[in-house]
Amino acid sequence: MLKLLLIYLSQAQWARNMVQRWGFARRTAARFVAGESLDEAVEVVHTLHQKGICTTLDHLGENVTTKENARLAADEIIHIIHRLSDDGVCSGISIKLSQIGLVLDPGLCEENLLRVMEEARQKKIYIRIDMEDSGLTQMTLDLFKKVRDGGFSDNVGIVIQASLYRSEGDVKDLLKEDSKIRLCKGAYKEPSNIAYPRKKDVDGNFDRITKLMLDRSMEIGSRISADGGVPPLAAVATHDPQRVDFAREYAEEIGLEKTGLEFQMLYGIREELQASLNKEGYSVRVYVPYGTEWYPYFVRRLAERPANLWFFLSNLVRR
Ligand code: FDA
Repeated sequence: MLKLLLIYLSQAQWARNMVQRWGFARRTAARFVAGESLDEAVEVVHTLHQKGICTTLDHLGENVTTKENARLAADEIIHIIHRLSDDGVCSGISIKLSQIGLVLDPGLCEENLLRVMEEARQKKIYIRIDMEDSGLTQMTLDLFKKVRDGGFSDNVGIVIQASLYRSEGDVKDLLKEDSKIRLCKGAYKEPSNIAYPRKKDVDGNFDRITKLMLDRSMEIGSRISADGGVPPLAAVATHDPQRVDFAREYAEEIGLEKTGLEFQMLYGIREELQASLNKEGYSVRVYVPYGTEWYPYFVRRLAERPANLWFFLSNLVRR
């Protein structure tokens, strides 16, 4: 019930207008968001890099409402590409297609995405297309496949959500072309006719899909690139120790090298698990969000774990 309320609040404009003005909310969000500027985010990228951890940067923002803002969002992504390339750090970029116009005008979104991909290819920066709510799943997959097949397969990947019934089929289809996949549980509230309502079924599907990805990784000998910039085919994005153990044990069972599997986690969450996997020799990539539009991202993190809400409320009491 609380989770549903928070997911609703993450999308409510009135709540965003109110909460973004609160200084203590911004300070609490700083646990999950690397800062409001690119400079602050790059500082975090450098710190993680020094620990041997790669990153993927996310300039926060979704569902832009004007074509001009969609173009500006693509311009900003291109700016990040240049900054990462100049700095020479091991970081890619995660983007949401609704940020560059998918809901507004799919044609404009495609144009923006191609602009981003051209630049990313030139500068050798890897782009991961995040997955949003189920209303955008098919359009996101279609556009991903278009760029993948349009000459960008080396530096683009997609995200799949284990919560959706369709995902196992989507993964089988994506693996036919050896698409790089980040598997996550899914952060959006979806109806039971399209998504598993019970956590244990989402977890079961997560493990099934992990197996499919690891088997294919093994067959084609997929590995992270030498400089760490391009992840292997299989990226397991979770903080759930049981899902991590399953992936690790299955990879060992089939003889997949550690460089053939990447674990991905969010900035500020389960840092001790990130460090121990990194120490064991796995590639670990941290998703580093930044920007002024932190509200929906932050409230989704609260929804995932009620303890985070108490952390937020205790900051409110202490302010
Ligand atoms: P689960 O929610 O079962 O949590 C397992 C354990 O992890 C918890 O018990 C807790 O200890 C810890 N944990 C989880 N969330 C926490 C939090 N917010 N704060 C503190 N501890 C927490 N989703 C999506 O729909 N589209 C996308 O493109 C992406 N992209 C993405 C990239 C990366 C790198 C990650 C790690 C995740 C995503 N997600 C996402 C989010 C994902 O779908 C999911 O909502 C979160 O990862 C939480 O689910 P877990 O797999 O961690 O498991």
